[in-house]
Amino acid sequence: QVAGRPKFHESARAQVAGTATYVDDIPEIRGTLHAAPILSTVAHGRLLGVDAAAALAMPGVRAVILARDIPGDPMLGNFAHDEPVLAQDTVQHIGQVIGVVVADSVMQARRAARQVVCHIEALPAILDVHDALQAQSYVLPPVFVKRGDAAQALKNAAHVMHGTLEVGGQEHFYLEGQVAYVLPQEQNQWLVYSSTQHPGEVQHWVAHALGIDNHALRVECRRMGGGFGGKETQAGHLAVWSAIAAHKLHRPVKLRLDRDDDFMITGKRHSFAYDYTVGFDDGGRITGLKLMMAVNCGFSADLSGPVADRAVFHADNAYFLEDVEIASYRCKTHMQSNTAFRGFGGPQGMIVIETILGDIARQLGLDPLDVRRRNLYGIEKRNVTHYQMKVEDNILDQLLSKLELTAQYRRRREAISAWNAGSPVIKRGMALTPVKFGISFTATLFNQAGALVHVYTDGSVQVNHGGTEMGQGLNTKVAQIVADELGVAFEQVLATASDTGKIPNASATAASAGTDLNARAAQYAARNVRDNLAQFVAGLDGCDAGAVRFAGGEVLTPGSARPFTEVVKLAHANRIQLWSDGFYRTPKIHYDKATLTGRPFYYFAYGAACTEVAIDTLTGESRVLKVDILHDVGTSINPAIDIGQIEGGFVQGMGWLTTEQLVWNDKGLLTTHAPSTYKIPATGDVPEHFKIELWPEPNREDNVFGSKAVGEPPLMLAISVYEALRDAIASARGGKKGVRLTAPATAENVLNSLRA
Ligand code: MTE
Ligand code: MOS
Repeated sequence: QVAGRPKFHESARAQVAGTATYVDDIPEIRGTLHAAPILSTVAHGRLLGVDAAAALAMPGVRAVILARDIPGDPMLGNFAHDEPVLAQDTVQHIGQVIGVVVADSVMQARRAARQVVCHIEALPAILDVHDALQAQSYVLPPVFVKRGDAAQALKNAAHVMHGTLEVGGQEHFYLEGQVAYVLPQEQNQWLVYSSTQHPGEVQHWVAHALGIDNHALRVECRRMGGGFGGKETQAGHLAVWSAIAAHKLHRPVKLRLDRDDDFMITGKRHSFAYDYTVGFDDGGRITGLKLMMAVNCGFSADLSGPVADRAVFHADNAYFLEDVEIASYRCKTHMQSNTAFRGFGGPQGMIVIETILGDIARQLGLDPLDVRRRNLYGIEKRNVTHYQMKVEDNILDQLLSKLELTAQYRRRREAISAWNAGSPVIKRGMALTPVKFGISFTATLFNQAGALVHVYTDGSVQVNHGGTEMGQGLNTKVAQIVADELGVAFEQVLATASDTGKIPNASATAASAGTDLNARAAQYAARNVRDNLAQFVAGLDGCDAGAVRFAGGEVLTPGSARPFTEVVKLAHANRIQLWSDGFYRTPKIHYDKATLTGRPFYYFAYGAACTEVAIDTLTGESRVLKVDILHDVGTSINPAIDIGQIEGGFVQGMGWLTTEQLVWNDKGLLTTHAPSTYKIPATGDVPEHFKIELWPEPNREDNVFGSKAVGEPPLMLAISVYEALRDAIASARGGKKGVRLTAPATAENVLNSLRA
């Protein structure tokens, strides 16, 4: 058996050796031209004219492409249809793309793009989510979800607390920046190489902008050097811009953004502002909650609707909220259009309830873990979410008990108190926080997938599916599942590039559901081939097809054992079909978009992290010292990859909440647009003690191999870092109870919190 084993990522060796190909490594066709973007330098204004004369006179420059060159729809064919392909009469953020310069070389194009003069008459810009809220400036209407009577519950509560919180966004910082390479083919057919999590959408968008049918266009993506949600929609823009240029010039066009432009143009994780009033009893149990979330969406809707919805769905994290009222405002600002980022609004939903619980514990002088446990979903009436989904698979009580023991939570809390008492400058803090993350796309229609399995006459197997590989190991897991279905070696199965010509209309690889959907579809495809072969071999041996087994590279019947390769050859000679498709759709899910109620998730993934930090109360600097994680991936298809996902997710979440600070100036210019000023975690920031254990129980729902999705949930384990920092700050502040800490907890924000 191959599934369940820690197989190397199928590209690991090639990636380490530098031989794995990304879009920019594909050998260029003769005549390929290069594009570079022309950016708005004003946050909001009327675009009066574009003077490209100087740029056009520069060496190697072929054309300046503007909105008027779009042959099809000048608006992007996305959810809300509110985003222009290229700015037309107005500009809506600094960095918005007005056009592209096309030249013989990348550097020629980039230099010329800086010489294009855009005449813009400035208009008042909204650069702050609070101002947007005040002005009722929205990209989508507000959403309200309520259960019970929060106002009455707050009136009756033994204790009431009011608070606000600000949580910053996050740049994706994929190692491979956004890139597309578009090649016109014969008779108005097109080939697009795109670094995208959603080749199907790139196909639809490009076809839409060119005014051609989807069938005339093929999009391919072998792999991404990271996506993290940033290439779910926003990869499509580059493909569309390149395609318009290629259409005008009848030449292949490639567009690769440099890092600074990538920062300036593309959307990020949504920053949030919250306002809450919470009621609770003497034991710290929440009895009523009113919560307002203001979501900074940027200038267009993009995926902000579903992101803000997921924040509402995860505002409970792991806790039962009986009388609750949530208001979610999808605010429009003149900033980059924010988009999917690992967790997809879930992290922004969870952090506020964790903040509230930490505050309640300090207010009452109770241990935060005790308060958290007292609020967990339970049995009977305490197991229905605020969106009316029953929590049937809850394992958090046992999981938290186990981590509390293995991380020695109680003993270490005492040790930290004692240590802090003797340390005037450096203070330590600790927090143990849970995660409960819903798996499935909330838009039910995306929860479908297709795959193709081809068995060739030499017995080698090729699998193709609608998902994309971004480093998360999807292709490896799919190949493991297919290998087992056919009883062949892992090395015998090859997963090939995502290709809209093979699997049409595929969903984005997102919502952590890549393996759930595509590995199942591939399993079904392989099963069809296996059934054909079993039928055939049963005929040869005169046995029942059900008695034929596939294992160890052999096909076994009660009376015989034949090599798989031999059976394949024989089957082909007898005209048996050796390839098949497979299709999967997630069962049980449904939900009402208007009221946000139903069962949006097939199941929940659980986990918990215990984190210890230290802060320097003179400088505000902090370090993460120790992290113990217990995480639920069901039965792991590949423990090496799953633990890698947990490590990576945690560290990325840690970056979001500690060092990754995005700063816009008062003109709306993003001033942190390069690694010199924007700090993602480095290897030196990874805690020295970083222990990860997997929860040893299969998924209780019928999911491929008994596994659970792992891509996003671990990111939210890093909320324990934020809570541990607040614990350390509380300790430094002595008796003072409130701890207001703006995220990310940079040295500056920690100092502000200490002094507040
Ligand atoms: N891991 C790596 N190495 N690179 C990535 O870009 N993206 C994350 C996660 N893990 C990402 C990653 C995000 S945002 C998602 S939704 C999932 O992987 C998508 O893949 P999956 O559904 O196959 O887990
Ligand atoms: Mo992940 S944010 O769903 O691409």
